[in-house]
Amino acid sequence: MSGTDHVNIALLGQGFMGRAHSNGWKQVASFFKVPLKPVMHTVFGQEDENGEAFAANWGWKNCTTNWKKAIRLPEIGLIDVATPNYLHAPMAMDAIKAGKAVCCEKPIAGTLKDARQMAQAARKAGVKTFVWYNYRRVPAVALAHRLVRQGRVGEIRHVRALYLQDWAGPEVPLAWRFDAKLAGSGAHGDLNAHIVDMTRFVTGQEITEICGGIAETFIRERTLLSGPAAGGIAAGLKSAGGTGKVTVDDTVLFLARFSGGAVASYEAARQATGNQNRNGFEINGTKGSLRFDFERMNELQFYDATADRAVQGWTTIMVTHGADHPYVGAWWPDAHLIGYEHGFVNEAYDILRVLAGQDPVVPIPDFEDAYKTQRVLEAALLSARSKRWVKVADVK
Ligand SMILES: NC(=O)c1ccc[n+]([C@@H]2O[C@H](COP(=O)([O-])OP(=O)(O)OC[C@H]3O[C@@H](n4cnc5c(N)ncnc54)[C@H](O)[C@@H]3O)[C@@H](O)[C@H]2O)c1
Repeated sequence: MSGTDHVNIALLGQGFMGRAHSNGWKQVASFFKVPLKPVMHTVFGQEDENGEAFAANWGWKNCTTNWKKAIRLPEIGLIDVATPNYLHAPMAMDAIKAGKAVCCEKPIAGTLKDARQMAQAARKAGVKTFVWYNYRRVPAVALAHRLVRQGRVGEIRHVRALYLQDWAGPEVPLAWRFDAKLAGSGAHGDLNAHIVDMTRFVTGQEITEICGGIAETFIRERTLLSGPAAGGIAAGLKSAGGTGKVTVDDTVLFLARFSGGAVASYEAARQATGNQNRNGFEINGTKGSLRFDFERMNELQFYDATADRAVQGWTTIMVTHGADHPYVGAWWPDAHLIGYEHGFVNEAYDILRVLAGQDPVVPIPDFEDAYKTQRVLEAALLSARSKRWVKVADVK
């Protein structure tokens, strides 16, 4: 398998996340003092993806078009799953069966049943698992988590979360993200998954009840897709002519209650014109409030209601100070900004720490934890269908 000083990794997938994870594994040991050296051993891609070129570009030693073989290679210790949602379960279960650690993209699975089986299998086998909820490792979000733990916002009353994008106009062909069999759901599993995880993480509380779910599909038919996804979400997708049915939502909204008494609202959308990647939250507590928007990812806004009333107001914190802000010390001199890819490098570091028996910088979701997020997502869809309150405890 892998030695005590290194871990051999097999990456499954060469698309958008295949590139993001490759960059994570490639950069991590250059910026962080890693307890285990990540060895980029083998990358899997489909026949039409030119694995040799991908491997040469990113530094993978080998490439293959057979993911089952990649998982069984005895020298591989960590399987990194970066394929469409319906493939997470078969790939992760195979890896668990082979006794390998697994880091899997989000949502953990397309369906609750798959997510439950993955969590059960991992528990039974005792292997280490991780889910790439990368926004936890944006320094501003990790700082928000820390400030809540320090009691700086007091008792949380309101959580307002949204993840709005606008890439899914009618010209975008029928990629896997629009097919329920491949994706499970649309904006819901893609975007609400992130903000459910992020708000569970920042508040340190669980979502207990859901109501007011609305799921809507505005564009019900799209042109058929020609060729592979080409490493983007919508850009570069080509139409093959003919049309097919969209079987997922374009938007899902819902209301929720948290275990600590807070009330919450969630909104995910792919056609919220003008909001290109507005992934964020506002949290209001008895002593203060926090606001984050990924479109300004180096900043966290904090309102300190314990300050002298004469000077109370929103403060924009530039989360770029190595000595004071999570993960930042590994990067550039103070006040030099970071970008999207840094969250993945930070996560690669924490995965290596946990594999080496150390604590991560901030908590990292395993399959058990990501299954909790999946139950919330399922409860929201149940609420939308049945138009009633749904207790998350009843959704297993
Ligand atoms: N953490 C994040 O912020 C984030 C962002 C985007 C996507 N994702 C997640 O990452 C995963 C992959 O998304 P992506 O955007 O990289 O997708 P993508 O379409 O860009 O890439 C998917 C990869 O899977 C391979 N694949 C597709 N169908 C396959 C099949 N039948 N058999 C074997 N391989 C197959 C493709 O060839 C490609 O290499 C999804 O679960 C998605 O939800 C997470």
